[in-house]
Amino acid sequence: MAYFTARIFILVSLVNRFLSAEIPSVTIRLGTISGETKSVIFRNKPYEVDRYLGIPYAKPPTGELRFRKPEPFGPFPEPYSATDFGPACPQAFILPHQPEEKTSEDCLFLNIYVPRQESDQRSGHAVMFFIHGGGFSMGSGTMYDGGVLSSVGNVIVVTINYRLGLLGFLDIDNAKSSGNFGFFDQRLALQWVNEHIGAFGGDKDRVTIFGESAGSLSVSLQMIYPPNDGLFRSGISQSAALTIPGYYQENNIEIAKYFAENMSCSVGDMDEVFSCLRSATPENIIKVVSDTLASGGMADKVKVQPGAVPTIDGEFIKTYPADLYRKAVNEESKEINFFRTLKLMNGVNGKEGAILLMVFGSDNLEDLEITREQMNTQQIPGATALVYGQRTVPEVVKQLLIAEYTDWENPDDPRKLREQIVRLFGDIYFNVPAIEMSRVHSNASDVDSYLYNFVAFLDKHMLPTPNWVGMANHGDELGPVFGYSFDLAALMNISDYTPPEWELELSGRMMAYWTNFAKTGDPNKPASDVVSSVAWPKYDVTSQSYIKFDREDSIGQYLFARETDFWKNTVSTVFDATEHAQTIASQCGSKDKQTCDKDGTYG
Ligand SMILES: *[C@@H]1O[C@H](CO)[C@@H](O)[C@H](O)[C@H]1NC(C)=O
Ligand SMILES: *[C@@H]1O[C@H](CO)[C@@H](O)[C@H](O)[C@H]1NC(C)=O
Ligand SMILES: *[C@@H]1O[C@H](CO)[C@@H](O)[C@H](O)[C@H]1NC(C)=O
Repeated sequence: MAYFTARIFILVSLVNRFLSAEIPSVTIRLGTISGETKSVIFRNKPYEVDRYLGIPYAKPPTGELRFRKPEPFGPFPEPYSATDFGPACPQAFILPHQPEEKTSEDCLFLNIYVPRQESDQRSGHAVMFFIHGGGFSMGSGTMYDGGVLSSVGNVIVVTINYRLGLLGFLDIDNAKSSGNFGFFDQRLALQWVNEHIGAFGGDKDRVTIFGESAGSLSVSLQMIYPPNDGLFRSGISQSAALTIPGYYQENNIEIAKYFAENMSCSVGDMDEVFSCLRSATPENIIKVVSDTLASGGMADKVKVQPGAVPTIDGEFIKTYPADLYRKAVNEESKEINFFRTLKLMNGVNGKEGAILLMVFGSDNLEDLEITREQMNTQQIPGATALVYGQRTVPEVVKQLLIAEYTDWENPDDPRKLREQIVRLFGDIYFNVPAIEMSRVHSNASDVDSYLYNFVAFLDKHMLPTPNWVGMANHGDELGPVFGYSFDLAALMNISDYTPPEWELELSGRMMAYWTNFAKTGDPNKPASDVVSSVAWPKYDVTSQSYIKFDREDSIGQYLFARETDFWKNTVSTVFDATEHAQTIASQCGSKDKQTCDKDGTYG
C-alpha cells in the first residue's frame, strides 16, 4: 500500500513539475524567444526537450523580395512566442503520404530542439541542421520532429524551410532573377545558427548539416561552396549526391515561359515574363504545377521537375559537378579542396530505384510486370535520356545496357525485369553518383569520409513499396534516423503504431552513429553499448569499406564498385568511341574509307 502511495505521490509531483515547469526562453541580439518543454519517449525511456518553433530567420520573401536572395530578419516583436511551426513554402501536395500543411509565401522559418541534458562538452551541444527533401518542390521542416533524435542523442537539432519550385529557383537572367534562392535561404539559416545557437546552448564550432534526397543534394552543394567556410564542419548526405542526373539546368527560361503562358501572360520578352511571375499570386503559380501534373501533359522541357530545378547560376553553382570532378583530377579546385576540409558521411539505401515505381501508380504494384518490349523501348531509353540528355545514344550503348540489366537465368521474365528497372534507376540516380562522390571526397590524405548502405526492409515505407522490392526504398532510413518521431496519423493515417523491436534497436544504433559523428567527427565515438558491436571504418579509394545497416549491422567493401565502373568507364568509353567514329564517318562524306584514312583528317 505504502509502495503504491509513494508511486502515486512521485507521479503527482512529476506532473506538478511539468505543469509548473518554467517556460524555456532564450535572449539573443534580436530579442527574447520563448519556447516550450515537451516530453519524449523512446524505447520506454522518457526524455525532455525544449522546442522553439517557427523562428523567422529571413524577411518574408514577398513583394519586392520575391526572386531575390533572402535578407536577414530584423529584431523580433517581443516577446516572441515560438511554440508553433511556421507555414510551409507554397507547393503542390502530390505525394501519397504528404499531409496538406498550411502554406504561405512568408515561409522562411526554422525550428530548434534543445535536449535538457548536460552537453557532452563544455563548449555546448553539437548541432545537427537538417535540410528536408522533396525534389526542391515539396516538403518543409515541420514533418521532421527533431525531439527524439535531440534528446536520445543529446544534440541540438535544427530544421528549416527554404523556398521551393519556381519561387525558390527562378533563373531567367542574372540581373533580374539569378536563381538558387532556396540554397541561399539554407545558407542564411546556417548563418543564423552560427550567430545565435550559442545562446541556446549550442556549440557553433560543431555544426553538422544533414539531409535526405533533394536535402542531401543541398548538403553536398553547400559542402562545395567555399564561402561557407566556418559555418559547419561536417555533412551527412542521405540518398542524393552531386552528380544525380536531371537535377541541374543552365537556366529555367523555358519553364518560366511555360508558367507565364499558362497564366495567360504575354511572353514576348523576358521582362514581360518576369513581371508576370513577379505579380502572380503564389496560389496561381502552384495551380500551374498541379494542373500540369493532373493533365499529365507536362511539356518535355519541364517534365523533370514540376516547377524549377537548381541552375548553373555562376555563383552558388559555378559548373556542373561532373565537370568539377573531371577538372579536379588535374587541377587545384577551390570547391573540391573545401569539400575535403569537411567530414563526410554519405550513403544510399538498398533499393533506391524503387522510387521509380511511383510512375506506375500506387495500386497493384505487387503484381507489376515489365515486358522485354517495355524494357527495351521505354525503360532503357528513359534512363539514357536522363543520363545523356540531348546526346544521341548509339545502338551499341543501348545493347550494352540491355545486356547489363538482364537477369540471364530468366532474361524475359516480366517479374525479373521489374527488378532490373529498380536496379537500373537506383544505379543511375543514386548509387553511382554516391560512390563517385565518396571517391572524390576521400581521395586525399587526412579526410574523414564514411559510407553506409541502408538495406533494412522496414515494416512501413515512406513511398509505395511492394514486398518484392525486399530492401529499403528511397526515404526509408528517415524513420530510424529520427527515432520514429513522425506523426504517422498525419502521414499515413495510422494511429498507435509501434515499429517492431528490431527496427527500434536499429534506430537506436543509427541515432548513435549520426549524433556521434556530429559530436566528435567519428561515428564510433564516444563508444557506447549502442555502437560498440560494429566499428564503422573510414572509406578510402583503396579499401572502399562501408557499413551495412540491417537487422544486424556488418562491414562490407566495394559497394557498387562494379556498377560505378560500368557506367563511368565501360559505357562512357564505348559511347565516346562510337560518337568519334560517327563524326569521322560523316566528315569523310562520300570519300571511300581508304582515301579518308590516307587523308589523315583525323588521328
Ligand atoms: C494551363 O495548363 C493546363 C494543364 O496542362 C491546361 O489545361 C490549361 O488549358 C492551360 N492554360 C493556358 C491558359 O494555357
Ligand atoms: C585520385 O586522385 C589521383 C590524383 O589526382 C587521380 O589520378 C585518381 O584518378 C583519383 N582516383 C579516384 C578514384 O578518383
Ligand atoms: C483513416 O483511417 C480510418 C480508419 O481506418 C478510416 O475510417 C478513414 O477514412 C481514413 N481517413 C483517410 C483520410 O484516409
